[in-house]
Amino acid sequence: MQYPKRIVVTGASGFLGRAVVERFEQDTSVAGWGHHHATGAIRMVDLRDATAVRKALAEERPDLVIHCAAYRDPDFCEEEREETRRLNVEPVATLMDALPEAARLVLISTDYVFDGEHPPYHEDDERRPVNYYGLSKKEAEDIAARRDSTLILRIPLLMGYGSTFADSGFIAKLAQGITDKKLMELDDFTMRFPTDIRDVAAAIAFLLERKAAGVYHCSNSRGQTQYRWALELAARMNAGADHIRPVKTPAARKALRPANSQLATDRIRKLGFTRSTDFREVADRVLALDA
Ligand SMILES: NC(=O)c1ccc[n+]([C@@H]2O[C@H](COP(=O)([O-])OP(=O)(O)OC[C@H]3O[C@@H](n4cnc5c(N)ncnc54)[C@H](OP(=O)(O)O)[C@@H]3O)[C@@H](O)[C@H]2O)c1
Repeated sequence: MQYPKRIVVTGASGFLGRAVVERFEQDTSVAGWGHHHATGAIRMVDLRDATAVRKALAEERPDLVIHCAAYRDPDFCEEEREETRRLNVEPVATLMDALPEAARLVLISTDYVFDGEHPPYHEDDERRPVNYYGLSKKEAEDIAARRDSTLILRIPLLMGYGSTFADSGFIAKLAQGITDKKLMELDDFTMRFPTDIRDVAAAIAFLLERKAAGVYHCSNSRGQTQYRWALELAARMNAGADHIRPVKTPAARKALRPANSQLATDRIRKLGFTRSTDFREVADRVLALDA
């Protein structure tokens, strides 16, 4: 496939962005942008600073921007709405405005644009976010969709292994808790469909190869609650699970969560994308890293 000559990946220092850079570096020239953790080859660009974004774009002249950067903690976003807008919404407008017509944007969005009442959700289903994080991503989608060439990829909870155990997302956190044997009270009412960061990176490449535009979903189909994922992980570790307790009702958290925002993936599967790495495989890779 003829890849874009120059790709910018925002959020390249983040969990997903790292995997996206790794995937595209094989085929083309990639410039990763980050902020506080911008080290090595990653360029520091504060996306909240429109002038800095325009300057960096003018220097890099990408044909494609894969926009991964965002605040993604719903409780933070609920409390810090203005700050959330500054990262999750406004830079999308700046990117759209500053990118030449021939350049494309890939926006990473979330299952949290849905209310979680009527799963599974298809790409064109009504978006009714129950928290500010979801609302900010919905707004970002609307801005990005003003250009027909935009690709919006909605994804659920991410899993994956990084270069270190600490860099390996929620599976590492659960594994640490299981090993520590301190009381773990875990959500047993919200369905989660952890999806491998490398599958998401592969889905982006797959869709770009087919010149796909519009909205697509990428998600694993195996879903259960965080409590159930922790029990499955404990069993895989041959560890006791007496200290893991289910919480059956939503805790008083700052942001509501959709109860089951499962993403239907018929659209991407119909194009031929079937990659769906299972939790067990990712868990084994995480557990093989030194804690
Ligand atoms: N993680 C999930 O479970 C999940 C689920 C659904 C959707 N998503 C979406 O997937 C995307 C990637 O999420 P992730 O898990 O990779 O997030 P992450 O690990 O928290 O990474 C966030 C990235 O945003 C960058 N960033 C933060 N503030 C910035 C600023 N002012 N200017 C420039 N960059 C800034 C960070 O850079 P520094 O670290 O260098 O500051 C980091 O690279 C997001 O759009 C998120 O909404 C994630």
